[in-house]
Amino acid sequence: MKILAIESSCDETAAAVVEDGRKVISSVVASQVEEHKLYGGVVPEIASRRHAEAIVPVVKSSLEQAELTLKEIDAIAVTYAPGLIGALLVGVNFAKGLSLSTGLPLVPTHHLRSHIASNYISNQELKPPFLCLVVSGGHSHIVMVEDYTKMRIIGKTRDDAAGEAFDKAARTMGMPYPGGIALDKVAENGDPFAFKLPRPTVSGSQYDFSFSGLKTAVINLIHNSAQKGIELNKADVCASFRYAVVDCLKTNFLKAAEDLKVEKLVIAGGVSANRLLRSSLQEECNKRGLAFYMPEKSLCGDNAAMVGSQGYYEYLSGNIASTDLNAFATMSIEL
Ligand code: KG4
Ligand code: ZN
Repeated sequence: MKILAIESSCDETAAAVVEDGRKVISSVVASQVEEHKLYGGVVPEIASRRHAEAIVPVVKSSLEQAELTLKEIDAIAVTYAPGLIGALLVGVNFAKGLSLSTGLPLVPTHHLRSHIASNYISNQELKPPFLCLVVSGGHSHIVMVEDYTKMRIIGKTRDDAAGEAFDKAARTMGMPYPGGIALDKVAENGDPFAFKLPRPTVSGSQYDFSFSGLKTAVINLIHNSAQKGIELNKADVCASFRYAVVDCLKTNFLKAAEDLKVEKLVIAGGVSANRLLRSSLQEECNKRGLAFYMPEKSLCGDNAAMVGSQGYYEYLSGNIASTDLNAFATMSIEL
């Protein structure tokens, strides 16, 4: 079964053709990041306008690269939640129009579920159940993936998402949006023990995260030093901050796996591209005899291939929308 998938939840307009949830026939991503960089973050109004301009050429090019016509497509999957509402609406309305004109079934797909599904492309043998750490710019969840379309939230952030904390810390150090990527690179040459940063916990919820205190601690460290005229070693600040964030993520994730007696661990979302998160979880899972899976780096960020993968399983579970489908800025991954 061939699915044409569409993604427009944030600042990437993407389309892909995916066969049977696992085989990517084509995948096109048009990023707006260069424009948003000028403002230090995504400007929702600009994002919607750029999606509106890019959606037709991006979808066309995904079909051309797949050497397929709409007649050879079996369903249309689209990200309908969560994300920037104006951005989501562009993809949803385009997919609705396409479904209406072709008669193809319309499959509404949850963005975070799609991030998890990027792993089905990168790890062909991977099947639920497994425990997944979903870390993106807007969310940080520990999710028990009981089946392809059955999920249970075990823990989540109480304030900032991990990606958001990375981006804000990076911005304070003058790195361009999205700073998480740059911070990760600079951290490679620094000492993770140079600065002592807190490891905030959430009382009464051992699997929940809190990154806002950690973010404030590093911002205060940078500002206080600047006021005193002390020049900090940027690589050491990045390395210490990255180490602290990864430590919080790893600790709760591994504790949840241990308590739930899960032996298959998976990571997903933009932050799953983080070098330290990938290497240290791999090492820890090897030590504990746990299976560990991660998406290839090109599938960690927003793309439509992952939407085509999750869309396939949503379709199989009977999740078909009618033409009154709407977009939602927030929606639980549990549905
Ligand atoms: O999943 P994603 O592409 O978009 C959302 O759904 O939010 O995640 C984007 C986030 C940004 O905050 C970005 O800085 C972060 O993922 N990110 C990273 C890395 N690559 C992307 N954070 C830390 N280390 C990285 N290597
Ligand atoms: Zn995303």
